[in-house]
Amino acid sequence: MTLAAFYDRLRLDEGLVREAEFNPYYRHLQSWLGDPVRIDGRDFLNLAANDYLGLACDPRVGQAITAGVSRYGASLCGTPIATGCVDLLRALEERLAAFVGLEDGVVLPSCYQANNGLFTAVAGRDDVILIDHFAHSSLIEGARAVGCKIRPFRHNDPGHLESLLGKVRGHRQAFVVTESVFSTEGSIAPLGAIVELCDRFGAVPVVDDSHGIGVLGANGRGVLEHFGQTGFPGIYTASLGKALANAGGLIAGRRALIDHLRYYCPHLVYSTALPPGVAAGVGAVLDIIGTEFPARRRRLWEHRDTLRQGLAAVGFTVLSGEAPINSILAGTPVQTIRLAREFYAAGLLTTPFVHPSVPLNEGRVRLIAGAGLPPARLKAAVEALPTIAKAWQAGSLVGGPG
Ligand SMILES: Cc1ncc(COP(=O)(O)O)c(C=O)c1O
Repeated sequence: MTLAAFYDRLRLDEGLVREAEFNPYYRHLQSWLGDPVRIDGRDFLNLAANDYLGLACDPRVGQAITAGVSRYGASLCGTPIATGCVDLLRALEERLAAFVGLEDGVVLPSCYQANNGLFTAVAGRDDVILIDHFAHSSLIEGARAVGCKIRPFRHNDPGHLESLLGKVRGHRQAFVVTESVFSTEGSIAPLGAIVELCDRFGAVPVVDDSHGIGVLGANGRGVLEHFGQTGFPGIYTASLGKALANAGGLIAGRRALIDHLRYYCPHLVYSTALPPGVAAGVGAVLDIIGTEFPARRRRLWEHRDTLRQGLAAVGFTVLSGEAPINSILAGTPVQTIRLAREFYAAGLLTTPFVHPSVPLNEGRVRLIAGAGLPPARLKAAVEALPTIAKAWQAGSLVGGPG
């Protein structure tokens, strides 16, 4: 193959964006994440970020980050195993593990890295991984990297999982992998039933709580608190870039697991450590959650309900997930992008998901109304919904999207 043919093969197919007359991806923010968000010189209400508790722009978090940088510098300029293991980062790992109720933890630069590196460190070719159909790409790619048997089970279906666990044979160890809150659906995994099945079949449960930490549970401690899982026997991961409003990926569990990962997880061992400022920022968010979680949680759920009722009232099909996520079923990729375009035209920033993030022609447009949004602005957004729905439906009829 020639070099020209190689680059030709990489060229993007812009058909979808052309047909939908909109590219919702990689929009460049000219402002912070708080309200309003500025893009292309226009103001938007941000219903796209995972800033569930409204802490990404909190001055206390910013001050903690600045103090962390002043004390430790901007970067550790090295991997944690070699030069990057500062006391602040280690203290954060211990604090996060205690926060979610587990023995120990380790923090990687992102949860994508954590999920991606976890399986190669703890599983081998003669193991089997059972994984929810809708699990995040980072978990799927991480499992694939092992080269072992992978058996997907139907989304949030413990009956199907049980029948697969009963059928798999001849392996050394089984792992059962799920998200806690599914980010495109807003559904919550039946973790209690999954842990019970794992116990019965001797499997290791693995839960990615990226959208649950700081959101679920009476004190915001995530899915384990939500389900009263005091002695969770498995592996827990979570992003620090959503409700915890910073960046990084936590893996937590028994001390033997964490000690093992420190030496055998390549995505940790061979990657520059989390910047100290970010570690300080996560610490500040945990402090705020400690005192303000009840009020912020109440606002988050009020916002979700206001938006959900408004969306349903104008005829959108909204998935009935229990999490503070509203996901509209939008159809084909073109219909999905066009719906995001109509929201955008009305000054509302949303997240469209098309295949392969969701099944083909089952696109979703996701709206997350974080606790930090001003209620008056959300009310105005709800008032704009009839116009948005009408414009989208008219476009569907005239343009025949899909
Ligand atoms: C369920 C889930 N897991 C993992 C990740 C990756 O997290 P991070 O952004 O920290 O890499 C995401 C982010 O999109 C996610 O939604």
